[in-house]
Formats: sequence, C-alpha cells, structure tokens
Amino acid sequence: MNLPFIQPPQVDWASGAFADSPVLRKSTRIVDLAGVFADEPSRRMLPGEQVVYDVEMLNTSPTEGELYTGVTHLYPGCVGGEYFMTRGHFHARREQGEVYFGLRGTGLLLLQDEQGVARFEKVFAGSVHIIPGFTAHRLINTGAEVLSALAVWPAAAGHDYAALANGFRLRVFANNQNIEVREVQNG
Ligand code: F6R
Ligand code: ZN
Repeated sequence: MNLPFIQPPQVDWASGAFADSPVLRKSTRIVDLAGVFADEPSRRMLPGEQVVYDVEMLNTSPTEGELYTGVTHLYPGCVGGEYFMTRGHFHARREQGEVYFGLRGTGLLLLQDEQGVARFEKVFAGSVHIIPGFTAHRLINTGAEVLSALAVWPAAAGHDYAALANGFRLRVFANNQNIEVREVQNG
C-alpha cells in the first residue's frame, strides 16, 4: 500500500505559534474593550490601536461535533493598574466546556459560574485547565511576558459576551510587586 502520510498542523509549544497551517487571526485592541476594565478613563487615555491580545485559530470545520483549536497571546500591561485580560465569555451553548493549556508566561484563568461564584487557576507553561460547562472564563496576564495559552473547544459552543455585561466579580490589579484581587459589586 502506498498511502501518503498526512502532515498535520504544528504548533511550537514554547511560543504558541502555528507553523505552515492556514490560521484565522483576530486582534483585540484597547479601543475594542470599552467598559471592560474597571477604570474606563484610564483605558481611554491609552492608544486605541494598542493590541491587548491576539487569537490564532486553525481553520477547521464549524460543524456540530467538530472541535476548534486556537492560541491566545495576551500581552503584558495594565489599564489603571488592572492587568490586561481577555473580554471573557460564557459559551452560547452553556453546557459546552473547553480545555486550556498554558504555553508560556504567567497569569490566571478566572472562572465564574452562573451563580456568580468565582475562582482562579494559575496559568503557566504546562498548566492544564478543564473549563466545565456553565462557566465563564477569562485569561489575565499577571507577568511581564506574553501569556500564551492553547484552547480546544466545541465548534458548536459559540460565545455569549452579553451575559457578562456587568463583568466578572473579581478583578486583578498590580499593587507594587503584588497581585491584588478586588471584588466589584456589580459583577
Ligand atoms: C474560545 C475561548 C478562547 C477565547 C480567547 C479570547 O471559546 O475561550 O479562544 O475566545 O481567549 O477571549 P474572548 O473570546 O473572551 O475575547
Ligand atoms: Zn471559551
């Protein structure tokens, strides 16, 4: 038999860069994150075009039952002392979970259930995060390097950003050399 050996997509584990695969890219900039950080005036002071995070996704089938694979690169920085973070979301199909794998950098994965109960997991190279269904999730970069994490999730899951219009209850700030967690009332 002379079957070809298919070359699969490749990711560089140290950087999270996909090699030689068609990828979809989306950049999220300061201007796209109105109302996301606690200190909105500070956000408006920053250059709107500054990229907070990039997502690169393999261009795979969106059909029910298929899986998406993507890497988030969350850059280091703060808005009014609050660490750069992703917008965060529930899945539109609430029961659908997801797995994140930390690749580089250091940060936190904030998880919040539908009752508003929140918890953090540390993210670092090699960390594995099982995000259950019915759980909103957000990455936070608490380090000085890029935080990169690979995610695999059901193509049918979808994203519901509106359900978290008031944001997450817990916010993470840089306080001198320390990481400070504050609770906000409207989250
Ligand atoms: C997919 C997923 C990640 C995020 C990415 C950007 O379900 O959780 O790929 O989409 O980290 O975060 P958001 O989508 O919250 O802007
Ligand atoms: Zn998700």
